[in-house]
Amino acid sequence: CGIVGVIGKKDTTQVLLKGLEKLEYRGYDSAGIYVNNQDGQDYLVKEKGKISDLEKAVGPEVQGLVGIGHTRWATHGEPSDTNAHPHVSQSGRFYLVHNGVITNYQELKTTYLKDVHFVSATDTEVAVQLIAKLVEVDGLTTEKAFQKALKMIEGSFAFLMVDRNEPDKLFVAKNKSPLLVGVGDGFNVVCSDAMAMVSQTKQFIELHDGEMVIVTKDHVQLMNADGETIERQPYQATIDDSDISKGTYQYYMLKEIDEQPAVLRRLTQAYINDDGEFNFDSKLIEGLKAADRLYIVAAGTSYHAGLVGKPIFEKLAKKPVEVELASEFGYNMPLLSEKPFFIYLSQSGETADSRQVLVKTNALGYPSLTITNAPGSTLSREADFTLLLHAGPEIAVASTKAYTAQITVEVILAQALAAAEGLENNFDVKHELGLAANAIQTIVDSKDKMADLAKTYFAKTRNAFYIGRGVDYCTSLEAALKLKEVSYIQAEGFAAGELKHGTISLIEDGTPVAAIITDPATASHTRGNIQEVEARGAKTLRIASEALAQDGDQIVLPKLSTVVIPIVSIVPAQLLAYYATLQRGYNVDQPRNLAKSVTVE
Ligand code: G6P
Repeated sequence: CGIVGVIGKKDTTQVLLKGLEKLEYRGYDSAGIYVNNQDGQDYLVKEKGKISDLEKAVGPEVQGLVGIGHTRWATHGEPSDTNAHPHVSQSGRFYLVHNGVITNYQELKTTYLKDVHFVSATDTEVAVQLIAKLVEVDGLTTEKAFQKALKMIEGSFAFLMVDRNEPDKLFVAKNKSPLLVGVGDGFNVVCSDAMAMVSQTKQFIELHDGEMVIVTKDHVQLMNADGETIERQPYQATIDDSDISKGTYQYYMLKEIDEQPAVLRRLTQAYINDDGEFNFDSKLIEGLKAADRLYIVAAGTSYHAGLVGKPIFEKLAKKPVEVELASEFGYNMPLLSEKPFFIYLSQSGETADSRQVLVKTNALGYPSLTITNAPGSTLSREADFTLLLHAGPEIAVASTKAYTAQITVEVILAQALAAAEGLENNFDVKHELGLAANAIQTIVDSKDKMADLAKTYFAKTRNAFYIGRGVDYCTSLEAALKLKEVSYIQAEGFAAGELKHGTISLIEDGTPVAAIITDPATASHTRGNIQEVEARGAKTLRIASEALAQDGDQIVLPKLSTVVIPIVSIVPAQLLAYYATLQRGYNVDQPRNLAKSVTVE
């Protein structure tokens, strides 16, 4: 979910709505705003659906000097007007938005709040009813009640609240969920991500877990859990409003696919200097060297980038790697090696599943690196080291440029480690990444062809397969995820050789099977598997590297080393997913049920 708040601006409603639009990537099943004119008049508007639906529901009378807003990705309670935030106390005095999950909400409901009538099915409503009761029944001031509630509530939260009786203040707190305060001249703002408010200010104060803040139009009072004042200087946000616009593109996803060659070049420049030396913190390299095993922990697309990274580290730097799904690993930790080093891959740097693992490995004292696109994000702050993806904001929910950027950073880091270990591997990383950038450019320049292929293979089908072996299997998993998450085709990534051991029974006349063939060691076997599915009626689409291409292969990837080829072989699949989705008539940037940054476990 995404949160915004503003105090001290005349165009409060517009600031909230524009801010929510920028946070829509965090959830888009319902949204709402509460605006108060500090003169007894206030408005609550909530709407199921996207921010554009909320905008239509907000009449011209909704004006004020303080306001809060929320865009939701449902956890507790279906998407509906009632379950949308802001939630309001029974008395109608307190209005609150929340991101996170309150784990003890049932307990609070049935004990302390058993006399309260709840209207929504959300965990959030418990927080606002609790604060109201602490004020209205127990006689605490709003500030003390807010502070006390934070101690009674368990779980993850970012809270932003307005008290109708004190509308010159925003009450703010966070635990595990991200939240920032933006400092303006005569006004202040609050947001889950600086992106929402960079058009208002570039100065942001990071909030840490357990802290509480009272924000007025010209003051930000930061306090620890015991109410003691803390001083913290704002930092300057580096993103620009123009970084987060679509420009001439109809959808962010295509813009972001097209940006990949530039991102690769930017990363090469950032991490390798003109003399070919690596630009990494020497302590990071020492830490990696000292480790006997690297554990890559991630979710979703980032997990797939980890799978691709494993053979890269093992091939180039001879370092054993395990790749783990964050949501599984934290609660089922296997026996670890003696000297593990943890690498967290996360575009957003906020994924709660990954963060809970980092909290645990930190407690165990293990060294860690976060590779992320978001400077200052939670995973970045809490790991020992950070490497940035330099991909620019990724807004489409389906990750594209962050994925290829993650693999690129893994390649450079693996080669830096190899150099530090004194290993000779004849791999010219700078040159190879330059070739990879050019190769991606060639593919993105063939959009018409990709749109045609998408039409032939994916415009009508209900299901599809991507198959491959080795690293091509990892790419197949990501290719299938891309296709299914945006086009709703039931797509499965499969190890080509494993298909015949059960799954081949799903192949029918016309089932699309796309095969990725870039590994000389397994190419002939994958070709055999293509024959097997064709014999059973499959319609095959072959994506092969130039060295392994055969007549009739529909997509041929330019010549590249096997180390960098997974950065390139995914790109046709990204484009096929994009065009198939448009052909099927869906919104490619905002697939149903998803959110880009999932800050709950
Ligand atoms: C969400 C997104 C995925 C993403 C995953 C991990 O589920 O919808 O696209 O891959 O989170 O996100 P992260 O920011 O940690 O890479």
